[in-house]
Amino acid sequence: MNFENILTDKKGLIGFITINRPTKLNALNKKTIEELHIAFKSFNDNRKIKVIIITGSGEKAFVAGADISEFANFSIEEGTELARKGQEILFDYIQNLETPVIAAINGFALGGGLELAMAAHFRVASTNAKMGLPEVSLGVIPGYGGTQRLPQLVGKGKALEMIMSASMISAEEAKNWGLVNYVVEQLELLPLCIKLADKISKNSSVAIAAAIKAVNANYTNCVNGYAVEIEQFGVSFGTDDFAEGTTAFLEKRTPNFE
Ligand code: COA
Repeated sequence: MNFENILTDKKGLIGFITINRPTKLNALNKKTIEELHIAFKSFNDNRKIKVIIITGSGEKAFVAGADISEFANFSIEEGTELARKGQEILFDYIQNLETPVIAAINGFALGGGLELAMAAHFRVASTNAKMGLPEVSLGVIPGYGGTQRLPQLVGKGKALEMIMSASMISAEEAKNWGLVNYVVEQLELLPLCIKLADKISKNSSVAIAAAIKAVNANYTNCVNGYAVEIEQFGVSFGTDDFAEGTTAFLEKRTPNFE
């Protein structure tokens, strides 16, 4: 895959996506969002890719937000469309992807950058990472799902403090607040994400996709997450992976999920 603003790579069962605009601290412009959609779709469609890791290039930033230079002059209609399209093709898209996505936060994750990391299924940060939703300092609000996903991850009070203060928190605070799962030195960031991805990739992709669907259902308006969990639990019983997984357990061997 050849892109202008992102790099992709495959190693074993893992797909890597790196946002590559380091001179702009990897800010998300329209082109980058479109390229990310194509890359995520392509890895998700590839049955040999079991986990996707997304990170930013350089040592300074994961993503420093939506590209402010691109939307500074937008009208109400253009602003609305920016958020709607971005949520549809990237942020909601990642959250609902069947393939697990780990965000490796290697530096600033601000605004759309933190929203991108929050759309991933979980997050790992390096010690230098700083996270925040600074939009209200620009007279706008988070538009890529930040007002929804941040309260889900850290609770309403902390989320509102972060959104209203527009201030950044450290990686360690983010871990204490439940926003990231682990904090490691920058050199250890990708190795740890790969270790976690390797562990995930040994399990049933079919069951993982069903679990993602069931977990997400709890956060979708008008959808009863418990009902979806029951439905997806039942669906698992008809899959080859379920047969293999349970048989392997009973035969005291490692399952071989195709
Ligand atoms: N959109 C567009 N360009 C951005 C950007 C963004 N969100 N964030 C950083 N950049 C650009 C800067 O304009 C600068 O470009 P230039 O060299 O052509 O002038 C370059 O990236 C480096 O950023 P700079 O501000 O010089 O780095 P810094 O180390 O002094 O500060 C930040 C780092 C992250 C604190 C600062 O860049 C910042 O506040 N960025 C905006 C964060 C934000 O509000 N995001 C939410 C957007 S809705």
